[in-house]
Amino acid sequence: MEAKRSGIFLRKKPRFQFKNKAQNLRRLLYEKCCKCFIYVDSFLPIIYHKKMDTDLILSCRQIFKTYKMGATRLEVLKGVDLEVKKGEFVAVTGASGSGKSTLLHILGALDKPDKGSVFFEGKDLISFKNSKINEFRNKKIGFVFQFYHLLDELTVLQNVLLSPMVSSGAIGWLIRSKQAKKAAAKLLEQLGLSGRIEHRPFQLSGGERQRVAIARALINQPDVILADEPTGNLDSETGNDILKVFEKLNSAGQTIIMVTHDDRIAQKASRIIRLTDGKIS
Ligand SMILES: Nc1ncnc2c1ncn2[C@@H]1O[C@H](COP(=O)(O)OP(=O)(O)OP(=O)(O)O)[C@@H](O)[C@H]1O
Ligand SMILES: [Mg+2]
Repeated sequence: MEAKRSGIFLRKKPRFQFKNKAQNLRRLLYEKCCKCFIYVDSFLPIIYHKKMDTDLILSCRQIFKTYKMGATRLEVLKGVDLEVKKGEFVAVTGASGSGKSTLLHILGALDKPDKGSVFFEGKDLISFKNSKINEFRNKKIGFVFQFYHLLDELTVLQNVLLSPMVSSGAIGWLIRSKQAKKAAAKLLEQLGLSGRIEHRPFQLSGGERQRVAIARALINQPDVILADEPTGNLDSETGNDILKVFEKLNSAGQTIIMVTHDDRIAQKASRIIRLTDGKIS
């Protein structure tokens, strides 16, 4: 009976191609209740939505986040929905304290929402195991922060190489290091830093430090750059130079989500969204 059943299952070509959860659920339901197969098969696309927009790269649905400090509760995000397509340059604006950084951290899996889902290429991050989440943060996302977060103990080149070095492991790094060093040097050269490779971050100007941070974000060729106030610590001329780097990257197809409270800077993006009262307005 079991063989016959699985034989039918194999012979019957599924009408819809689903991966992972949906496919497994259909198989389970089929095994539990053979007669329901056609019924289940017809409804799974609805249950798992997901008439997936293949252009979507990063999206979130009904994100809620509350910080609790003793008896005080601060509801920061109250049901945020966002969809970002491949190649978009999205600016997230809003007043100070409106939750822009909180949202960016949740999108990049640096923090978890209390409720809601984040999808990368249609896959819910909640279904990712720890190692896959690390890989997502490391390889798919490049972070750029207002205060650079570079390590002063390391040279510029070493700062850029830190992430591939950590993710490769000792043996992997022996194999990869030469190629990675070449790629890092090329990136730094493209960002106008070829003369600063052996400098330490404290020996650089603010704009130069931010360009090192951008090189560090780009070294793994991420699918999405998440930038939190990347010009917030720079004078307007240097800030404009950094924006030009982002614009150039975006013209080459790089997806960017950039937080800024400066409307003038936000205008450079192809789409502006605003966080107000915990939601996108
Ligand atoms: N770890 C935390 N614990 C408690 N409260 C927090 C925490 N992180 C952020 N908050 C609070 O949540 C609110 C939103 O913070 P968030 O940093 O996301 O705002 P923001 O929009 O990025 O502000 P800014 O433009 O000033 O950077 C703020 O009021 C902040 O004080
Ligand atoms: Mg912030």
